[in-house]
Amino acid sequence: MYRDNPLKKISWQDFQTLSPEEKGPYFLRDTQPYHVLTAQQFDRPTLEGICDLATKIRMIGKTKGGIHFLQDLLSEKRAMLYFVQPSTRTFLSFYAACQIVGVKTSEVRDTTTSSEVKGESPEDTVRTFSSYFDMIIMRHPVGGFAERIAWLLSNSNRPVPVLNAGSGKDQHPTQALLDIYTLERSFENRAGVEGKKIAFVGDLARGRTVRSLATLLLLYPGVKQYFVAPKELQIGEDILRSLEKAGTEFEICDDFEQIIPEVDAIYMTRIQDEWDTAHESRLMDTSRYHFTARHLEMLKPGAVLLHPLPRRQEIACEVDFDPRAVYWRQVRNGMWVRAALILTIFDRGGEIDRYYEDLVG
Ligand code: NCD
Repeated sequence: MYRDNPLKKISWQDFQTLSPEEKGPYFLRDTQPYHVLTAQQFDRPTLEGICDLATKIRMIGKTKGGIHFLQDLLSEKRAMLYFVQPSTRTFLSFYAACQIVGVKTSEVRDTTTSSEVKGESPEDTVRTFSSYFDMIIMRHPVGGFAERIAWLLSNSNRPVPVLNAGSGKDQHPTQALLDIYTLERSFENRAGVEGKKIAFVGDLARGRTVRSLATLLLLYPGVKQYFVAPKELQIGEDILRSLEKAGTEFEICDDFEQIIPEVDAIYMTRIQDEWDTAHESRLMDTSRYHFTARHLEMLKPGAVLLHPLPRRQEIACEVDFDPRAVYWRQVRNGMWVRAALILTIFDRGGEIDRYYEDLVG
């Protein structure tokens, strides 16, 4: 099906010297995603293709006949879900997405149940998965580990696609895809995502979802990004440099209440204190960065409030009842977008288009 395998043509040493933007093309096959590792590997047509497919899958999945059609699409494939960091939504939505398109799944969620306890390297463990499965979906605490695995497998005699379901503090590309889809749907009757003002709030230094979404938003002209956090938790310089390079307008600030009435979308995040060694952020008072019921009056009528979840106190539960709170919609969108992504990787999107045309035509 795929002729080209660009990761076969570069040594691991040379690959590591590349910037995230330069690495992107190495993850593609015939311009489509094969490995899904970084936000930088996506272009606008690919994003639009995935969003369009997600909507069609959602529509087709409303009837029993449609559900059976979807389940037949990839019924010959098997996927390994290798999640050695905690996960609720990403794991379950990938699991459910696999079920929707008929992919059979298996899982390892804890290294203590695999031969890693006997001293096997994580590289050998994942290479073993590729002997039994046709796709590896992985969440790992080490940034760049999924890239290493993708390179290794591409250079083995059984290359299979590797999907990054969250790596270290760095990347969470599939979360960014569902965030984009949610923003697209939220602004569908208001000229789309382009030109919107979008604020990121909370732990921007270690929040991988923010880093990936800020990167995808570079593909939408006229978007202005706001980074609202205490100085110690501000967004990385590398992200700011990529915004400058793309000519994206941005603002860095620490006054949350001043930003609320100004923006079209607010992306809340929790403090990622699992990365603390000395528990320093656990002791910080971050209550100034919480969205409470009082803030609803300050929010524009057409604005939306997002959160990758899990939340702690960043968003008060009363806020859930406001129609502008779209984080539970994000959760469900994750399933459709991941199903669309899996079909794209295996080049089966065309069948969705044909079925959908028959359905609506
Ligand atoms: C996020 C993650 O794991 O990075 N969760 C998710 O995938 N929805 C955010 C977080 O843990 O705070």
